[in-house]
Amino acid sequence: MAAISFDPFNALSDDQAQERIVAAKAKLGSRAVLLCHHYQRADVYRHADITGDSLKLSRLASQTAAEYIVFCGVHFMAEVADILSRPEQVSILPDMAAGCSMADMASRAKVERCWRELATVLDPDEKVTPVTYINSAADLKAFCGEHGGIVCTSSNATQILEWSFKRREKVLFFPDQHLGRWSGYRMGIPMDEMAIWNPDLEMGGLTRAQIEKARIILWHGYCSVHQMFQPGQIDRFRAKHPDGIVISHPECSFEVCRKSDYVGSTETILKTVKAGAPGTHWLVGTELNLVERLAQEVKPEGKTVQFMADTICMCSTMQRIDPQHLAWCLENLAAGNVVNRISVPPHEAVLAKVALERMLEAS
Ligand code: 13P
Ligand code: SF4
Repeated sequence: MAAISFDPFNALSDDQAQERIVAAKAKLGSRAVLLCHHYQRADVYRHADITGDSLKLSRLASQTAAEYIVFCGVHFMAEVADILSRPEQVSILPDMAAGCSMADMASRAKVERCWRELATVLDPDEKVTPVTYINSAADLKAFCGEHGGIVCTSSNATQILEWSFKRREKVLFFPDQHLGRWSGYRMGIPMDEMAIWNPDLEMGGLTRAQIEKARIILWHGYCSVHQMFQPGQIDRFRAKHPDGIVISHPECSFEVCRKSDYVGSTETILKTVKAGAPGTHWLVGTELNLVERLAQEVKPEGKTVQFMADTICMCSTMQRIDPQHLAWCLENLAAGNVVNRISVPPHEAVLAKVALERMLEAS
């Protein structure tokens, strides 16, 4: 049977889409598992079989028995599910436009150019471990697999840096400069031994001496959502709530992380606030869908949870996975049509898996 087109689903009301999701899920039963990242919007998140941060979801993607892994997250997450699952399993992203703007800040061509330029100063394959944040395309994970490198997530980046420094004296960390800097700082690496590589400049905008001195070379990438959080917002919260507690995601700027009481992945943020004492006040520096859901959940214990930014900042790309797209993709699966399959080319998948498995073993 030909795939059902998306057009009629676009016209569904949210309530109609919800009913169709429930019906299609019931029809699919255990053949489909719905993995949801914590930033997913509420009207999709409520259908999740499993929720988590990137590390938890990648581990679970390798363990699920379902035929279809429907990933309500962004493109790189569905790629990881495809790489780590068995060959007969199918990874699906309900809307192909759900990308990650930070992941797009590093490309294979630019990283290869960086590697070539570094080779004019030192032998990168002997001296530099490439470390890619999981928020990156599969071909960059493959680059790391090929060059003795590794993947990290927001919950294990410091451990992964330790793994890397046991092997080579320097690290090239991409694409998120903030996660790399914060993790290096936590390991005690001085700021002047962390240099920024600007991929749009020759030699990354660095001198030979700066490259020789650097222990971590940080790619000039960032998350547009987390860069909205500012240290001044923490100061204002603390002035109002002297006993308040601040928790941020490590994609926030260094100044925000340093002013926070806790810094951790989305899963860590949820666990820490939920474990907090009744009546405590929290300021949270991460995406709005997570923060709003958390605020509601802990309200009965008298805890307040405040969003760090003054403006609304959501992960607009993850937001594209809406009930209409989810209903469309589940009904197609129930009718035997695979739509929006994420399939990493085998030669890339093999090498990317090497880098992912190094991470899973090391953390
Ligand atoms: P977590 O691994 O903490 O869930 O982070 C993923 C992400 O994209 C944060 O912006
Ligand atoms: Fe990417 Fe930022 Fe969205 Fe996370 S919040 S998926 S880093 S754009």
